[in-house]
Amino acid sequence: MPKLTIAIDGPAGSGKSSVAQRVAQILGYLYLDSGAMYRALALKALEDNGLALSSEKQLADLAASTTIELRPTPPQLVAEGVKNQVFLDGLDVTQAIRTPEVAQAASHVAVVAKVRELLVAQQQRAGAGGGIVMEGRDIGTVVFPKAELKIFLEAAPETRAERRRKEHEQKGEQMTFEQVLDEVHERDKRDRERKVSPLIRAKDAVLMDNTAMDIEETARLIVMLAHEREKQLSGTAGREV
Ligand code: CDP
Ligand code: CDP
Repeated sequence: MPKLTIAIDGPAGSGKSSVAQRVAQILGYLYLDSGAMYRALALKALEDNGLALSSEKQLADLAASTTIELRPTPPQLVAEGVKNQVFLDGLDVTQAIRTPEVAQAASHVAVVAKVRELLVAQQQRAGAGGGIVMEGRDIGTVVFPKAELKIFLEAAPETRAERRRKEHEQKGEQMTFEQVLDEVHERDKRDRERKVSPLIRAKDAVLMDNTAMDIEETARLIVMLAHEREKQLSGTAGREV
């Protein structure tokens, strides 16, 4: 069977990482969380006190002098909910990038065309061989416009906010539902309205609303679609094999 490129895009908390990781696990594909790259660069920007998040030039220079590496998560850490392991200039920042501050800063960093150019090129190199599930905001539109399977994952904003609130609670961080909902709204708005590679559904992406579905159901549905695409591509669709 041919190895597909699967692109999963959608707003914050729609389930992209959890679902993409599970799909990759079932299919034996590589999983790549493109958002982690924007988060890692944002963390570096936040740690540099002299740097203005509003300065496109400074952010572009920072991106050009930064090394971000995503590594597949070892199986024992997958069970603990770790997505990709993320290294920023050689340092492990896997946990450090999962804060609301970094998430907000990531969506500022992500409006800069030069930053996107550099990160997109890296993402394209990582997925060049196929057999990959990559998730983010522009994977089906910009990174892999020819991906054989594209999913646009959605869920009601309140559901997405509640999912995120629970995650914060589990980490011992106190955030009210309203605070999380505001954070999610603000970031979605910035992601949808930016000039470069905004969050939109690719015309050929399957819209999947998983408000009332769990991770396993959503992943199984995508795997089913992936098998259909594999059959179409190998010319066996509709035939007994
Ligand atoms: O990557 P994205 O921000 O789109 O979402 P995620 O990090 O995969 O999911 C956010 C939270 O929602 C996680 O804690 C998931 O376990 C949870 N989730 C869920 O409860 N039901 C789903 N159908 C999808 C995700
Ligand atoms: O997990 P969650 O959906 O909350 O966010 P994420 O996927 O980790 O992405 C963090 C931020 O990076 C997003 O709000 C976007 O601004 C940006 N991003 C992007 O612009 N393009 C991507 N392909 C992935 C993330």
